[in-house]
Amino acid sequence: MKNKEIVVAGVMSGTSADGINVAFVRLSDRPRSGSRSASISVSAFRGQECPRHIELLGHVEYSYAKNVRAAVLGAMNASRASVADLAQLNFLLGELYADGVLAAQRKFSVKVDLVACHGQTLYHQGKAIPFLGRTLATTWQTGEAAIVAARVGVPVVSDFRPSDMAAGGKGAPLVPYLDYLLFRDASAARIVQNVGGIANLTSIPAHAAPSSVVAFDTGPGNMVIDAVTEKFFGQPFDHNGKIAASGKVLEPVVGKLLKREFFRKKPPKTAGREEFGREFVREFLRTCGRAKKQDIVATATALTGASIADAIRRFVLKDPTARNRPLCEMILSGGGAKNSTLVTMLAAELAPLGVRVRVSDEFGLPSSAKEAVAFALLGYQTWHRRPSNVPSATGAKRAAVLGKVSFP
Ligand SMILES: Nc1ncnc2c1ncn2[C@@H]1O[C@H](COP(=O)(O)OP(=O)(O)O)[C@@H](O)[C@H]1O
Ligand SMILES: [Mg+2]
Repeated sequence: MKNKEIVVAGVMSGTSADGINVAFVRLSDRPRSGSRSASISVSAFRGQECPRHIELLGHVEYSYAKNVRAAVLGAMNASRASVADLAQLNFLLGELYADGVLAAQRKFSVKVDLVACHGQTLYHQGKAIPFLGRTLATTWQTGEAAIVAARVGVPVVSDFRPSDMAAGGKGAPLVPYLDYLLFRDASAARIVQNVGGIANLTSIPAHAAPSSVVAFDTGPGNMVIDAVTEKFFGQPFDHNGKIAASGKVLEPVVGKLLKREFFRKKPPKTAGREEFGREFVREFLRTCGRAKKQDIVATATALTGASIADAIRRFVLKDPTARNRPLCEMILSGGGAKNSTLVTMLAAELAPLGVRVRVSDEFGLPSSAKEAVAFALLGYQTWHRRPSNVPSATGAKRAAVLGKVSFP
């Protein structure tokens, strides 16, 4: 498969624990024109070998069954999960990922050469902390790659994050590699913003070298919105932001929560359910008091929008009031890009900063497919024994070849 065009299935399941995204991506080291489907133009990653052709052949999303979602969320609750539960979940997810790839092969009538499977994060501690006399950064993604390899019949690259941590990084974020290849621009500064369970951004100054890429988690994405929508309306998420649109934002609540340490902390920084899960939602609800339930959903939505804008003001635009700044665009992706109330709130926060909001779909990359495409790219790099972390984004001391390979 070396130096040949190959089709990689990128498989992603994020912290929202909503399900599995599968993207089929054709990759090649040679630029290619005249392909049937929309091809995304790629700029070279300076000083490193990387694909020059990335073409999305198809993308599909499979929701977890209700009981599987409950098991996944339960497993993230470190104090309660049993070892037997975790071992079983590992193998079950392997089967479900394989089912997803096999179903997508039938749907798109395409056979893949390689699977790149992120796995389901159960725990992520990006910053090293003391443990039994050593200081360790740790992470854990589950979903048995040996099962995926056996069922699909092709090699599987999995477990991308530990390699970056072994090189001194935080193991996250890894998507900036794709962001840089696809969205670097000669004249516009770009902020590539993904709104999944957690929201994260990649800042790419105009005409930037890889070393000037900054990326970090800005705070909650859909996680708090989902939690309060489930609690008050019995729905897993606020479809198109309709509930939030019918409520009124409690501005003092947003102001108070933005004072928390996480939002003030300088990047690089990462967050997970540890920061914005159950405990945070409890505090959020306490701060909202006896407000109307639609106002609480509106406020959770505004908190996501305001925390993103706040992060941009503090850490991305060095001087937000400066005139004659080069054009700055936000490229939005993730499930949150479908929440139109959130997008409207975000655009209103960013307009005074001179940042224009666009969605990644405008660039030929469907917003919900982006992370799965990113892991297809990372898998491709690993298969060719090439690095794909962005050290300035993760804090790693060196470029690292990410992941492990399982053979069928
Ligand atoms: N039509 C929609 N309207 C509003 N929110 C949506 C919509 N579709 C998806 N979402 C939100 O996106 C989340 C999933 O986003 P995703 O990018 O898959 O996150 P993750 O990577 O954390 O799994 C859902 O939990 C939901 O909050
Ligand atoms: Mg998801």
